[in-house]
Amino acid sequence: MKPYLKVNEWRIIEEGFDPALNEVSESVFSIGNGYMGQRANFEEQYSGKSLQGSYMAGVYYPDKTRVGWWKNGYPEYFAKVLNSVNWIGIDVEVDGETLDLSQCQVLDFVRTLDMREGTLSRSLTAVLPSGRKVRIESLRFVSVPFKEIGAIRYSVTPLDEAVQLKLTPYLDADVVNKDSNYEEKFWDALSQHAAVDYASVEVRTKKLDFHVTSHMVYDLAAAGDEDQEFYVEAETHSREKFAGVTLSLRAEAGQSITLYKYVANVTSRDHLPETLADMAQQLAEQARDQGFDALLDAQREAWAEKWRDGDIVIEGDEKAQQAIRFNIFQLHQTYTGEDDRLNIGPKGFTGEKYGGSTYWDTEAYCLPFYLSTADSHVARNLLIYRYKHLEKAKENAAKLGFSKGALYPMVTMNGEECHNEWEITFEEIHRNGAIAYAIYNYVEYTGDTSYLGEYGFEVLAELSRFWEERVTYSERKGVYMILGVTGPNEYENNVNNNWYTNRMAAWTLEYTLEVANKLKAEEPSTYASVTERIGLTADETEKWADITARMYQPEDAELGVFLQQDGFLDKEILPVAQLDPSNLPLNQKWSWDRILRSCYIKQADVLQGLFFLGDRYDLETKRRNFDFYEPITVHESSLSPCVHAILAGELGYTDKAYEMYLRTSRLDLDNYNNDTEDGCHTTSMAGTWMSVVHGFGGLRVQDGRLILNPFAPESWKSLSFKVGFRGARLKVKVTGGRTTVENEGPAAASLTLYGREVDLPAGENVSGERNPQAGAPEGAEVS
Ligand code: BGC
Repeated sequence: MKPYLKVNEWRIIEEGFDPALNEVSESVFSIGNGYMGQRANFEEQYSGKSLQGSYMAGVYYPDKTRVGWWKNGYPEYFAKVLNSVNWIGIDVEVDGETLDLSQCQVLDFVRTLDMREGTLSRSLTAVLPSGRKVRIESLRFVSVPFKEIGAIRYSVTPLDEAVQLKLTPYLDADVVNKDSNYEEKFWDALSQHAAVDYASVEVRTKKLDFHVTSHMVYDLAAAGDEDQEFYVEAETHSREKFAGVTLSLRAEAGQSITLYKYVANVTSRDHLPETLADMAQQLAEQARDQGFDALLDAQREAWAEKWRDGDIVIEGDEKAQQAIRFNIFQLHQTYTGEDDRLNIGPKGFTGEKYGGSTYWDTEAYCLPFYLSTADSHVARNLLIYRYKHLEKAKENAAKLGFSKGALYPMVTMNGEECHNEWEITFEEIHRNGAIAYAIYNYVEYTGDTSYLGEYGFEVLAELSRFWEERVTYSERKGVYMILGVTGPNEYENNVNNNWYTNRMAAWTLEYTLEVANKLKAEEPSTYASVTERIGLTADETEKWADITARMYQPEDAELGVFLQQDGFLDKEILPVAQLDPSNLPLNQKWSWDRILRSCYIKQADVLQGLFFLGDRYDLETKRRNFDFYEPITVHESSLSPCVHAILAGELGYTDKAYEMYLRTSRLDLDNYNNDTEDGCHTTSMAGTWMSVVHGFGGLRVQDGRLILNPFAPESWKSLSFKVGFRGARLKVKVTGGRTTVENEGPAAASLTLYGREVDLPAGENVSGERNPQAGAPEGAEVS
């Protein structure tokens, strides 16, 4: 598809209305505030192709599993975040004719997502089938400071003649999910009320009994009539799951009629069901009392704060600038870290694919973004989410026949496994490694060692118990092995000794023992109480040490590379570049059988491990593995290129790093994979952020220091990014080969810039030059 969005530093702009692109735009222009999200559907009716989507975080449905061939251990259901009350709807009738853009001639259409202030706007002129012409202007947002509130300003202006106008703001819970397994409706009606000045709808989900109440109030203004009453007739409507008010009035030619719609959406996740109606009414009325402009000001301030702490500025490449801001924007819209029961679905709130559930994407790809750009409680809450699921992860392991330990699910909403393809559900157990690694990453980055005693150690111990039982001791070879797994590369299943899985398992055991020793020495009473509570024995820890020491990690001495799995080198190894491009993407062009037998790698696998455990491998080892695996990787998961970009940056392959960055930076803006209508690739956006900050910026953390080895792609005049680190806010600006780090405070920061250690007080800056040969620093000077 040809890119159709205008390039702009702060805004995403669509000019001209093409119905064929509407569903893509609905995803791209989505708005969200971590609590709820809304696709960019039109307020007025639209009979063309559209995926209506309003989602409330954490309100989900356990949709009964549907599989062709049942396997023992499969989950009973797949959890999906539900399409919830459509709160944006405003029907428009002009002299009895319904405004429906699919039936109109649409002129001067502009849809804009303003990322600086977190708003979606639209303007257009519609020529209705009768020839009547109206101008429509709308602006809406879901409030960041008042999370339950959605606000819309919607204006209609008849252009050539006076008309009789009917505006019907409404709430409609009679909605469906596109991906319902049994074409069920997931909501039951509880009540609906419509009065001249409000409407409300109360519904509850089947099975899990989540209650959602939406309450709408409005204001109406007619240009020129600000100080006087104008005649409006109100007619109420309600039916099951629906309530609305029709406002009829006469509008003169050129006179704008503006409806302000304020909606509060509240759920039984936060309040007792019996209090929801009052709560929603009160919040909606408070919003109306504040007024649209005041709410908008508060929205701008909230977003200004997010940008202050985590903006990335790229000079000399507006497309790249727009793309990186879009990625940052969507990540902040998806997760704010205020609620430790929530997590990050691969599509955020922009679509229904992947059900809005949690994957290893969170720990492996998203955590670094929140670690660097938000207060540390945000990342901590992502970890606590998994802590709270520990009991379920233990149950999951027990269900698969383990006598102890925890296996976190591949996909989950509440801790229970939802995924049902045996080769992933049962075999992609490396996810346990990412959860352990996230604990390490968080503690390293923030210095918050209290997390280990409070929560982390217990999780690590249960993960270790799982690995202890999952390994197989090979008498023949005198080593521990992990048989029958799927690594991150899903283009090989049921393999033995996936290097990444074995390595991360051994590392988890080693890290768990390290944490145990640290706690024993520094917090003996915490250590004693955790070990007593979970019944940890010396036999177990001894076994973990033995497995750590004797875990088999396949490698080929001749090539000097780690083997993705035991049999990898038996495959025919042919670079992707030698394949006729008509074979790509393999997952659409080749049979599964052919894919599984091939050498082609869906996503970073060995390289994922070399990125995670980067401080344990020298550059030459990384280079040999990169040179071997990168040419046979097809990157058919959008999570893949970022890891390659980061390693390429470290190895001094700056062009490769840039090429990898480009593969995801505009993935949704340019609908690169032709699937953005299903929703945006939110978790891969975190990967794009990593490509910039960890890849081009070379950011790592080691021994409490922030390591930076930045470079900027040649086509960029400069790159600057902001990261928070242990109380300091750092602005890193790279121009040519020179980098300046400014500490905006309040705390001092311990840095290593291009290999030189600097302790940077608040308010000071430091500069350094990059040696053109990567990894060979040339020093830095403080000023
Ligand atoms: C990837 C997984 C990922 C999932 C959700 C799959 O295509 O292979 O690693 O967790 O998508 O993003």
